[in-house]
Amino acid sequence: MIVKPVNLGSSVGIARANNRDKLIAALDEAFGFASRVLVEKAVTPLREINCAVLGDAEDARPSVCEEPINSDEILSYRDKYLSGGKGSKSGKSGGMSDLKRRCPADIPDELTQQVQTLAVKTFRTLGCSGVARIDFLNNPETGELWVNEINTIPGSLSFYLWEAAGVPFDELLDTMLQQAFKRHRERAALSFSYDTNILSAVSFGGTKGSKQ
Ligand SMILES: Nc1ncnc2c1ncn2[C@@H]1O[C@H](COP(=O)(O)OP(=O)(O)O)[C@@H](O)[C@H]1O
Ligand SMILES: [Mg+2]
Repeated sequence: MIVKPVNLGSSVGIARANNRDKLIAALDEAFGFASRVLVEKAVTPLREINCAVLGDAEDARPSVCEEPINSDEILSYRDKYLSGGKGSKSGKSGGMSDLKRRCPADIPDELTQQVQTLAVKTFRTLGCSGVARIDFLNNPETGELWVNEINTIPGSLSFYLWEAAGVPFDELLDTMLQQAFKRHRERAALSFSYDTNILSAVSFGGTKGSKQ
């Protein structure tokens, strides 16, 4: 099983358990980080595939797929955020963009299309707009594919996935800004309040002047 605190991300507090004792220890650890914990069946063997989506519900397109390469069983906080840190030449961490990856992922065309279609569907179902990277779990033996999680900006701008898809960084930012303006115009056209007398007939016990 994989045990995850529901509200953290960055692999903090996530553990794999393959027996009862490890499961109990993993739950103890996870409940130290959140009051709700997710326990999932572990996908084994596991191949991870990520795909970003750009646009909105009306017009969304997928990036190329990438395959992050784990140095550990679970892609850890260290892998994600500290791998470019201390001791690296640049001296700063670039997070996911520094991580080892295959881009585009070395997977069959059919799977690439399946991931891209599901990525767009997920993005639209959740009503996303702008850029989001959607992470998948795949069992290469059975071909099963799961949406694992969706990552929002600024954590996961995934500019490298767009560069690989022929969208340079400035064009990506341009598209995102256009999306933001569009979203703003759409929101401005919506009503967020309306006049009502709904509370006028209610008497609140204990308020000044009231005897009931
Ligand atoms: N059901 C699962 N089966 C196998 N490995 C998993 C499963 N869920 C997560 N993992 C591993 O744990 C890592 C972190 O889990 P994830 O759900 O992506 O949480 P986070 O929000 O911390 O990124 C994944 O990248 C993957 O390596
Ligand atoms: Mg993740």
